Amino acid sequence: MQTIQEYVQSNKDRFLEELFALLRFPSVSADPQFKNDIIKTADFVAEKLRSAGADIVEVCPTAGNPIIYGEKIIDPTLPTVLIYGHYDVQPADPLELWDTPPFEPTIREGKIYARGAADDKGQFYMHVKAFEYMTANDALSCNVKFMIEGEEEVGSVNLGTFVKENRERLKNDVIVISDTSMISLEQPSLETGLRGLSYVEVEVTGPNRDLHSGVYGGAVANPATILAKLIASLHDQNNHIAIPGFYDDVVELSQKERVALNQAPFDVQTYKEDLGVAELWGEDGYTTIERTGIRPTLEVNGMWGGYIGEGAKTVLPSSAFAKISMRLVPNQDSHRITELFKNHFEKTAPKYVTVKVTPHHGGEPVVTPTDSIAYKAAEKALEEAFGKKPIPTRGGGSIPIVALFEKELNVKTVLLGFGLDSDNLHSPNEKYGVENYLMGIQTIPAFFKYYAELSK
Ligand code: BES
Ligand code: MN
Ligand code: MN
Repeated sequence: MQTIQEYVQSNKDRFLEELFALLRFPSVSADPQFKNDIIKTADFVAEKLRSAGADIVEVCPTAGNPIIYGEKIIDPTLPTVLIYGHYDVQPADPLELWDTPPFEPTIREGKIYARGAADDKGQFYMHVKAFEYMTANDALSCNVKFMIEGEEEVGSVNLGTFVKENRERLKNDVIVISDTSMISLEQPSLETGLRGLSYVEVEVTGPNRDLHSGVYGGAVANPATILAKLIASLHDQNNHIAIPGFYDDVVELSQKERVALNQAPFDVQTYKEDLGVAELWGEDGYTTIERTGIRPTLEVNGMWGGYIGEGAKTVLPSSAFAKISMRLVPNQDSHRITELFKNHFEKTAPKYVTVKVTPHHGGEPVVTPTDSIAYKAAEKALEEAFGKKPIPTRGGGSIPIVALFEKELNVKTVLLGFGLDSDNLHSPNEKYGVENYLMGIQTIPAFFKYYAELSK
């Protein structure tokens, strides 16, 4: 029997090649043009689960993209771990900003560059390889189930139905997800929360048609100007969100919890330099760690209207648009927040224009327990692999389906992420460290070992 370290050493090249093959599929869920690639990716993942040792593997059709389900039940009296991940990726554009093509993975300075490298192909695939090791070396100490979906990046619209319809089959004792970040390879950490999301699209309409900006400009309100003002007024001078009632349900952390949270290593200077900004911005009274973890935020994700092509066109646009998202924290409710936003936006719009607010998908915030057996097992596994105890952090991103798993399956999640915040998720030149990938594969079997031990 080989140790996982030996196994990773001797199979390293193959592990990388297989991940590269997975990364070559442009499985973009947002764009129907890639539907065929989505199907091929799902089949590829299913095949890899089979060859890694799963007894049952199924590509389950949904109203949208297929979900891959796999399992290996070694002993019904042992605990069952369900691995969740997603094989879909964000669109790669703007393509011209990539140094190498997004679907031609390449390694530079120890990082794998490709769309989906960290989010989430490189991360869920670590579980497939760790599982391969455990089955091949008779080291599996728990039953394993896999559920790898293809619509996470577009709101997991069909996963809820799948979970509800397959409650029995998906039954498990803990869900493990590697789709979040850690602080660094030198300082492992475990995310213990995810923010919720409320996403809206707004449209501001003025005159009934585009107008000549010389003939009519100055006499009619410009919807783009009004939209800009409305957006600007969504934060007050302290950068608090100015929507009445927005903070009503926000759980404030105790002073002790805040101190603990801010113990995490964080260097403002490095952070600013990495992002190329002279100053940081955010809600008064909170640190950057708090602003991106335990506080809700409101961001404009895109705005447009009028002429945005080459050269100049003197036009007063008939309408202007924006996509706006709000990150939520416990105990905010995404439906209530969307409602508050809609009412506020409609109420504050001046008479010169009409506004329309269209809600998109949302999700609820979650906090995961740190006193559970599963969390302790993850802690021990990371400590064993990295030689340092991981510290708990609060993640800024969202995986809306986690709240639904808790509700439908009545189980908690462990966020065993190995990415870095600086991996350029959703952005050009997405990357994932080779070391992060291999360390992840080495950590996972230890998690299984400790989880089984502590469950006894
Ligand atoms: N893996 C991310 C979420 C994430 C990233 C959590 C980093 C913690 C740290 C996930 O794929 C994602 O991008 N989620 C979306 C929400 C979804 C509804 C599109 C997000 O957070 O914007
Ligand atoms: Mn993800
Ligand atoms: Mn993502």
